[in-house]
Amino acid sequence: MKLFVDTAEITEIEQANSWGVLDGVTTNPSLLKQAVESRTKAGESVDIESYLERILTTVGPGKPVSLEVIGTTYDAMRSEALRLYERFNPVAGNAVIKVPVNPTLEPDSGDSADGGDDADGLRTIAELSAQGIPVNVTLVFSPNQALLAAKAGATYVSPFVGRIDDFLRTTAGMSFDKGDYFPAEGMPLPDGSDVLHDDGVVSGVDLIHRIVAIFDTYSIETQVLAASLRNTRQVAEVADAGADVATVPFAVLAKLLRHPKTYEGMRKFVADVVPEYRRFFEAREPVK
Ligand code: E4P
Repeated sequence: MKLFVDTAEITEIEQANSWGVLDGVTTNPSLLKQAVESRTKAGESVDIESYLERILTTVGPGKPVSLEVIGTTYDAMRSEALRLYERFNPVAGNAVIKVPVNPTLEPDSGDSADGGDDADGLRTIAELSAQGIPVNVTLVFSPNQALLAAKAGATYVSPFVGRIDDFLRTTAGMSFDKGDYFPAEGMPLPDGSDVLHDDGVVSGVDLIHRIVAIFDTYSIETQVLAASLRNTRQVAEVADAGADVATVPFAVLAKLLRHPKTYEGMRKFVADVVPEYRRFFEAREPVK
């Protein structure tokens, strides 16, 4: 499974990259807002073009960086996507355009704020894919949305694991914290009558399982990019489910390395070094 970091914070991207484990980056308007606001607060002004260039070059060729459109109609998204790709792909050849599976803002209206409709995401994906532009389809919450995005030509689909878990718990009136683990196998309803589910999907991890199974069954090449991961257990679970990629917040990425028994084992190894062995190293200059 490839590991992407889900952030627009350059210091986090640089750090993750220096660990030698980074396969790519996902950004979105909310993550960019956080990065820009923290700089503005610190009195820095942000030139967004050079900031994004820095992200693209840090991550480097062959490691995709998703940049998201901001429009909500086919015309707007297509135009923004072409602009983004033309401006930023030449930097390191690694730009991927992120497009919502459905840009509509209000349910049931069928119309987006500026006159688009539910299918404008698919039309945009199809058009960009036909032009050879890699597309990461975001805000995927069902196997059906993933299937449609794949059929339209998506390179990646991004099912939102944590937000499905949020939706299930909110719908059942349960309270929770954002990072709380939600069982992959689902949770019984508070009255025990059934398992919480959204059209049969019992958890965010279950959503990944189902999409991976469908793509395997039909030999669909679109990659499943598990997004909205909130804790370390979910990362292992989406790997187990066969996700092609997990995009992980930097704080969760850092936690993947931690285990109390590793710390304990290190203390023991360090304490057990015999002088004879230590002298072997001390008698020589450290290798530079
Ligand atoms: C994906 O592109 C999103 O950036 C992200 O994974 C959403 O995570 P959240 O639901 O924790 O905000």
